Amino acid sequence: MTDAPHATPLADQAEYAQAVQVAVDAAAAYYGSGDSALDDDAYDRLVRGIEAYEAAHPEHALPGSPAGKVAGGAVVGDVPHTVPMLSLDNVFSAEDLAGWVAGLERRLGRPVEAWSVEPKLDGLAVSARYQGGRLAQLVTRGDGVAGEDVSHAIGTVVGLPERLPEPVTVEIRGEVLMTSAQFEAANVARTSFDGVPFANPRSAAAGTLRAKDRKYRCEMTFFGYGALPLPFEDGSPLAVRLRELPHSQIMELVVGLGVQTTGATPVGVIAVATVDEVRARVEEIAGLRAELPFGIDGIVIKADLAADQELAGFSSRAPRWAIAYKLPAVEKITKLVEVEWNVGRTGIIAPRAVLEPVRLDGSVVTYATLHNPADITRRGLMLGDHVTVYKAGDVIPRVEAPVVHLRTGDERAVVFPQVCPRCGGDIDTSQQRWRCVRGRACHAVASVSYAVGRDQLDIEGLGETRIVQLVDAGLIVDFADLFTLTREQILALDRMGETSTDNLLAAIERAKGKPLNKVFCALGVRGTGRSMSRRIARHFASMDAIRAADIDGLQAVEGIGPEKAAMLVEELAELAPLIDKLVVAGVTMTEPGATGPGTGAADEAEADADPAVSLPLTGMAVVVTGSMSGPLEALSRNQMNELIERAGGKASSSISARTALLVAGEKAGSKKDKAAALGVRIATPEEFAAMVHDFI
Ligand code: IVH
Repeated sequence: MTDAPHATPLADQAEYAQAVQVAVDAAAAYYGSGDSALDDDAYDRLVRGIEAYEAAHPEHALPGSPAGKVAGGAVVGDVPHTVPMLSLDNVFSAEDLAGWVAGLERRLGRPVEAWSVEPKLDGLAVSARYQGGRLAQLVTRGDGVAGEDVSHAIGTVVGLPERLPEPVTVEIRGEVLMTSAQFEAANVARTSFDGVPFANPRSAAAGTLRAKDRKYRCEMTFFGYGALPLPFEDGSPLAVRLRELPHSQIMELVVGLGVQTTGATPVGVIAVATVDEVRARVEEIAGLRAELPFGIDGIVIKADLAADQELAGFSSRAPRWAIAYKLPAVEKITKLVEVEWNVGRTGIIAPRAVLEPVRLDGSVVTYATLHNPADITRRGLMLGDHVTVYKAGDVIPRVEAPVVHLRTGDERAVVFPQVCPRCGGDIDTSQQRWRCVRGRACHAVASVSYAVGRDQLDIEGLGETRIVQLVDAGLIVDFADLFTLTREQILALDRMGETSTDNLLAAIERAKGKPLNKVFCALGVRGTGRSMSRRIARHFASMDAIRAADIDGLQAVEGIGPEKAAMLVEELAELAPLIDKLVVAGVTMTEPGATGPGTGAADEAEADADPAVSLPLTGMAVVVTGSMSGPLEALSRNQMNELIERAGGKASSSISARTALLVAGEKAGSKKDKAAALGVRIATPEEFAAMVHDFI
């Protein structure tokens, strides 16, 4: 599933020595302040290059080399660990994993009967020492032999209670991290004090854990992944259990003590019996990565039974009974080249980061979302900055923060627009999201283009240039005006002949007969794309019923919650003059086949829940990915969605545990992996066509 990062090639001894220096500095920063100049991938590549060079030229190997050392040899701390805090060896693919399992089983001389599989949390290892049920000391991993006392952080770490319900003496090891929400909160607190945001959740946790006298407080989270008796408690009943129980049960015991463990993460610690099950769990966790509320950089697989662990033992660096299955980097450092300002359909002016292209989780990222202007200020971003960029699975890439210590002084301030970049009008900056004061009018061209598009009113012969001509000539301000255009008006436009005029008029006339869902979609109501428009039209059956609906009524439509319903009511009021014009022009305002609310018949019609008319996809959430083939080859994504809904299903764009079916064509990407991981049924376009043949 994952490839090992390529080694950075090192040509000679000088390059090798320089690489060692860079890696040592990066490791010191990573395990210290958390502000490494290298992202994980770049660091891994460098260390692999160093290892390769040392393998070829052992006589040149420098004693300070980070290769093969815990924490890359970055020594921090003076509190000796009771038992060394080791690292984990890595594998990067299913084949590597199978090889590692075979090696372990050879060493044991028997098959491993139980495995535990859990997320590899991307934070910092700490050891929490409880004495008589009280959290007495918190120590970082340091060089594995001794760590730094960070007991001052006690009380700021969720999941690590200061008191246990029983007066036990025990050492719990685990990872301290910041969840996405904690990271956002920490950056708000930090930037309001000294204006310098943390680069990513990991360095935020590293910096916070070690900081002693901060004027602001940042919360962190702990997940335990191991427990051991403290030395002088060796004979206690708890110590005996910790030595004898399987890892998965130790985790349950720790939970019983009120300490959070990896078992409390949405992907949990699960014990399985076979390597196939391990692999399935690995894929499942990998598929859910983007949705987790914190970062993971892999999956840890452990021989679950104490006897297996004892027999396998440790190398100098890592246990032989556990392995980290590394996932590809989802965060990288690249350069912020430019900030673009785009005006959306409704007049919202949104910034977008233009990046130096960077490969992330299987695709090349050039653009990333910046949310809104306040977000740029809050993150203190400057043009030319090195920035951390995050992308996993299907999520839209986002800029996390600038890497402030890489600044050269050549960075420039981001320039915020003073006037609307599209129409030159004023900007309403009173809300977080800036808007052109002209709202939709600013957008006459874009919104008319959208309304006449293939999936809405489908008016052929009305490209953007024509629309600009019509707007500039004062003939239209919105798409309702199209229906009152006269033949003379159109003919008078530049480069407009008799035939094309007649064709255009005929296309406009045809558009009047489009069903309500297309007309509604053409309105460009915020938050309602094609499938939501179909659902609304099917539910209400007429524009009058939609307009009469209040917030409660709108929430009867699947996918509309209280916030969206309130926004819809507001938008519909704003659009009232446009809708009135459409009614007067004779545009269709009803949905064929839908019967409207009130009688309950519409709901039945909508869900097609009447068992007598059960359709092939009734009650099924269906996702389409990849390119279609066979009888479905010519269908656009929207036409596929319409087909799904005609056949009684619900078209959806993302895979979740609720998805009933994925139609996966050629070049299907991560959605297919995710569906497989979640056990979602997968059909080829041809199989799907056979299921819904009556509706194509
Ligand atoms: S078990 C003897 N389990 O990954 C070491 N480690 O790259 C046993 N980590 O040092 C470690 N999640 O800080 C274990 N579920 C997990 C983990 C985990 C994150 C960290 C840990 C370790 C590092 C190695």
